[in-house]
Amino acid sequence: MPIPTLATAMAVAAPVTSARSVLPYVIDLVAVLLLALGLKGLSKVRSARSANGLAALAMGLAVVGLLIQQQLNLQAWVWIGAGTAIGGLAGLLLAQRVPMTAMPETVALFNGCGGMASLLVAMAVALFQSAPGGLADGAVLVERISIVISVFVGAITFSGSIVAMGKLQGWIGTPAWTQSSLRHGVNLTLAVLCLVGGIGLPSDPGGLSLWILVGASSLLGIGVTLPIGGADMPVVISLLNSYSGVAAAAAGFVVGSQLLIVAGAMVGAAGLILTQVMCTAMNRSLVSVLFGGALGASAGGHVGGGGDEAGYTRITSCSAEECAMALETAERVVFVPGYGLAVAQAQHTLRELSKLLEANGTEVSYAIHPVAGRMPGHMNVLLAEADVPYEQLQEMDAINPEFPRTDVVIVLGANDVVNPDAKSDPSSPLFGMPVLEVDQARQVFVVKRSLGAGYAGIKNALFELPQTAMVFGDAKAVLAGLVSELREMGVGKKVAA
Ligand code: TAP
Repeated sequence: MPIPTLATAMAVAAPVTSARSVLPYVIDLVAVLLLALGLKGLSKVRSARSANGLAALAMGLAVVGLLIQQQLNLQAWVWIGAGTAIGGLAGLLLAQRVPMTAMPETVALFNGCGGMASLLVAMAVALFQSAPGGLADGAVLVERISIVISVFVGAITFSGSIVAMGKLQGWIGTPAWTQSSLRHGVNLTLAVLCLVGGIGLPSDPGGLSLWILVGASSLLGIGVTLPIGGADMPVVISLLNSYSGVAAAAAGFVVGSQLLIVAGAMVGAAGLILTQVMCTAMNRSLVSVLFGGALGASAGGHVGGGGDEAGYTRITSCSAEECAMALETAERVVFVPGYGLAVAQAQHTLRELSKLLEANGTEVSYAIHPVAGRMPGHMNVLLAEADVPYEQLQEMDAINPEFPRTDVVIVLGANDVVNPDAKSDPSSPLFGMPVLEVDQARQVFVVKRSLGAGYAGIKNALFELPQTAMVFGDAKAVLAGLVSELREMGVGKKVAA
């Protein structure tokens, strides 16, 4: 089946006359609108689920529109059917099996697939289908420049995403040489090779230049991602997501698909905005993420680091019973969910507890830090799953001024996002990162299993403050304990009445 390209599409462009020839354009338009609506809906927790459905429908329509345009023979249908069935089944199984905490790795894999698809499409056109004609022909020139961009960005996205996934899974470490200036030399050499391939490809699309570009870009993707580690990893994944959009848009120019250009541009822009939001929330500049090497953190997260038990001297711990007594008399309670809550899958028990407190006349809110958990929106998704009312979710900037008038804060499996050193200790790796100012509340209970560190691998000054008490244990078990203590105190009876 010949692959349509920009140049051939323009060469054979004919007036749209029949209903059959109009239909694919109408379908494309509807798909683009649905995709835009889907992306917009994803910005709100309330509409995110249906927005995801809209975006999936848009993608389905896009495929249907494309297939209608083609005059396919039986063999092509068999290939397409088999590919759709295998890919669809793999996606379905992945969606069902991957736990929420492994979502960043999954997103990395999806980005990699997107990059690979754009790379393969551009390579196929370069090798087998590139339109005849000289570079003086505008359409041919645009097509070949698009091939260069699609191959370059697609290959970087593919190899970079696979490395990112491997690092998050703990399969790949950060080699020592990548933390020295040697990596800049290596990456610069690869970038020069990409330039050589990119300049040579337009005049000889299927020749050596293509292979130089493919090889050097793939290695560059590895070279750029390998040195990055720790808390910076999800920023890189978001950036690679943006790249996958750029690669798709370029592939859209290669095959003359307006739909792909629009969808790719939207993904590229959305990924870039998200990258910026994450950088701001973690107080990192994109330049330092990309060129600064691994953040001085536990690559992969929540291991001992500087926050082991030996580092603390003034810890107060208490039982669930004591914590429940404070909750029973509190007028205003704020829960701070973190990664540990997600690991413990304690969101439903938390909701049960908050219902009890609300029935007791307590004002309950949830403080959401933009990078709590392991991916953007992690906590919102988790709490939405337990039907926590959206109006109780408070973003960091809105809730921080409220802490001084809060009686009790319960920190649930969160650590770095409540570390006051981020505000006061210039030597802290977290210094400058905006945090939830729970230390301003009258009483703070920190629920976690030990004095172990969070993702950044450092000690948390909050644990030693006089108003803080640690409630050691798994978040779900502690919350269940609090629910039963409150019921024993008669709070449950008040609810029933
Ligand atoms: P962390 O600082 O990682 O702390 C999580 C805490 O949960 C750990 O200290 C751990 O202590 C506790 N925990 C683990 N399992 C638990 C369980 N079953 N029950 C109770 N507690 C448990 O989490 P955070 O405060 O949410 O901060 C997020 C961190 O991830 C930040 O450093 C952020 O920069 C980083 N990060 C976030 C993102 C995004 S986009 N969200 C992306 C990249 C990096 P114990 O082991 O003692 O229980």
